[in-house]
Amino acid sequence: MRKKIIAGNWKMFKTVQETEQLITGLKRELSDYTKVEVVVCPPFVNLPVAADCLVDNTIKLGAQNIFWEQEGAFTGEISGPMLKAVGVDYVIVGHSERRQYFHETNETVNKRVKAALKNGLLPIVCVGENLAEREGGKTFDVVNDHVTGSLAGLTTEEMQKIVVAYEPVWAIGTGKTATSAQAQEVHKFIRETLAKMFGQPVADATRIQYGGSVKPENAAELTAQPDIDGALVGGASLKVESFVGIVKNTKV
Ligand code: 13P
Repeated sequence: MRKKIIAGNWKMFKTVQETEQLITGLKRELSDYTKVEVVVCPPFVNLPVAADCLVDNTIKLGAQNIFWEQEGAFTGEISGPMLKAVGVDYVIVGHSERRQYFHETNETVNKRVKAALKNGLLPIVCVGENLAEREGGKTFDVVNDHVTGSLAGLTTEEMQKIVVAYEPVWAIGTGKTATSAQAQEVHKFIRETLAKMFGQPVADATRIQYGGSVKPENAAELTAQPDIDGALVGGASLKVESFVGIVKNTKV
């Protein structure tokens, strides 16, 4: 049985003070709610205060990126050991905004995934096509490329630590959600791809989140699909009410 997982990707929002406020609100509403796994992913500088707020809480902490070297002269980068030392559990890797604005490729995503695993962090690996690719009928090719490239060379044991997030780029921050049928179709395809790479039992155990304009109003229908195991939430994760609404509307 795959436990549903709802993660909030705060992107480049919230100061230290706002982080404390938001997490305090989430704890008030969600501390006793364990039917769904909940993760918050604030910006790097807010991770220590977030970790302090979340001590002994069921809400988990995630980072939004990781560099692949352990340490060294890499100005501006953050390593796995640094994240681990702060108390981070998860790390988002290969988000489309990183692929689009910071030249991430499947190769660099793959290096980051391996760095996360090496440091005992659980990767949330993002894949998904943009609008031109969808309209050009290339969705499955692109998603296949992202999945096989980003997860290349992992052992079946390592794969059991991975969460995959399908985020169609055209649905991110646009208010345009993929229909539950559109999302389910790609999720099923991702699971089939994982089965070819790692075998059916691993594919069946892997959680695949949907991301792209998820809101309290559409969370139930999306997470009721057989291959949708949760959500990676952007905008709606920035307010207590909407994020809690998504968590509580998630079909368990
Ligand atoms: P929105 O929920 O704001 O569309 O963002 C989705 C996303 O990119 C989560 O990583």
